[in-house]
Amino acid sequence: MHVIIEVGYLLATISFILGLKFMSSPKKAKTGNLIAAIGMILAVVLTFFAGYTGTVPYINLVIMLVAIVIGTVVGKRFSDKVEMTGMPQLVSLFNATGGGCAMLLGMIEANPNHPSPAILTMQILLIAGLITGAIAFTGSIIAERKLAGKVKDYRTIGVVLTARILLALMILLPVLYFVGVIPVSFAVFVYFLAFLAMVYGVLFVLPIGGADMPVVISLLNSITGIATAFTGLVYGNKVMIAGGIFVGAAGIFLTLLMCKAMNRSLMKVLAGKFKKSTGIVSDEEQEIKEISVAETALSLSFAQKVAVVPGYGLAVAQAQHVCAQLQQILEKRNCEVDYIIHPVAGRMPGHMNVLLAEANVDYSRLKEMDEGNEVMSQYDVVLVIGANDVVNPAAENNPDSPVYGMPIIRAHEAKQVVVMKRGRSKGYAGVENDLFEMDNCSILFGDAKVSLQEIVNQLKLI
Ligand code: TAP
Repeated sequence: MHVIIEVGYLLATISFILGLKFMSSPKKAKTGNLIAAIGMILAVVLTFFAGYTGTVPYINLVIMLVAIVIGTVVGKRFSDKVEMTGMPQLVSLFNATGGGCAMLLGMIEANPNHPSPAILTMQILLIAGLITGAIAFTGSIIAERKLAGKVKDYRTIGVVLTARILLALMILLPVLYFVGVIPVSFAVFVYFLAFLAMVYGVLFVLPIGGADMPVVISLLNSITGIATAFTGLVYGNKVMIAGGIFVGAAGIFLTLLMCKAMNRSLMKVLAGKFKKSTGIVSDEEQEIKEISVAETALSLSFAQKVAVVPGYGLAVAQAQHVCAQLQQILEKRNCEVDYIIHPVAGRMPGHMNVLLAEANVDYSRLKEMDEGNEVMSQYDVVLVIGANDVVNPAAENNPDSPVYGMPIIRAHEAKQVVVMKRGRSKGYAGVENDLFEMDNCSILFGDAKVSLQEIVNQLKLI
């Protein structure tokens, strides 16, 4: 049985590697997800039998089975119900459960009624897993609530200072405990640390706003992976160690990529130095030019090179299919159509790629931000569909703007820009968009799907 379990764990680990590898290509991502999911099921089943062959009491196996069934049903329900636009919140919630598990396992192992790990190395690993798990647990819950708009940014010097003191305590207290200065039982000490780490998780995420949120979610994801790897070391469970390391490493890479895409330094993120997202509030309404569906269709009918810049609004409107339809109609008229994708457009990494893949848009038509910017002046028309922050020139021109420093798609350098949005609301970072007031830019008000459908209908008549 032992050999079967070890071989199974190895297969599960290989499936995680294959899953990650496949996920680097949009075409193979679905298959990669499936392979990794099968590997995870294998790991869970084998772990169940690993317990079964040991000295685990019968009642524990029943509890494990019930937990697996509840977890499967709840997870499936959540995943079935979630809208594409709510995916980051769901990821955050799932992340919270991972962190919470690592924290609870640490607390269980430290319980006086449980064979406590006596070896110092094990105790250190247990504490490391417990602290990182607890931070990821509460941090991810706050991140989910903030993404859902239920919790506002809250940044005061008190919050930031308390968070830093807690961070220092979480490093200092274990040292003091192990040199024998803190005369409490290991279990009590561990419970106290879990409490501190949970409070720290809340205070760490609470002040973060607007454009920094994707970095934080990715970072918390990575922290959960690290917590899992530490806990895996405590249990000597190879697949848990491997899975944790993969999540931790992938999360860190993604965090670094996000930092680069948003021009944030990771050190500033780790130190909790975030820009306020609501710094600029203008009472004056922007002077913008409106454009009609007929005028937009006319411009497009004369265009030879068109770029589509999709954003969060495309996902809200679910306009990807009609957008692909517009592309086909324009291409039939010998117009070249490209999609320029910003790395943090939408609400999750790869959000726009997933949407466009759903509409069977050919990947060869997708350009990355830098590639698109290089040829921006060649586009006759740029259609900005539900994007806002990612095309805001203030990110380059206004050092006082919260989005300053974030690389943008320079749609304003095209010959003509048409922005599709429903009203005058701001983007995710909560700031005015300087693009909207520029001479070559006009706004086509309305739901993106409805507007696009009307443009398609008009183009059929021209
Ligand atoms: P946003 O700046 O959020 O702007 C979305 C725009 O879509 C708004 O102007 C909104 O205006 C419009 N819109 C919403 N529903 C629409 C509909 N049905 N039809 C037409 N327009 C609609 O989007 P973005 O440019 O994609 O930028 C992404 C932002 O989210 C960045 O600040 C980024 O940092 C942040 N963020 C990104 C991620 C990742 S990883 N991608 C995760 C979290 C946060 P109206 O309401 O007036 O229509």
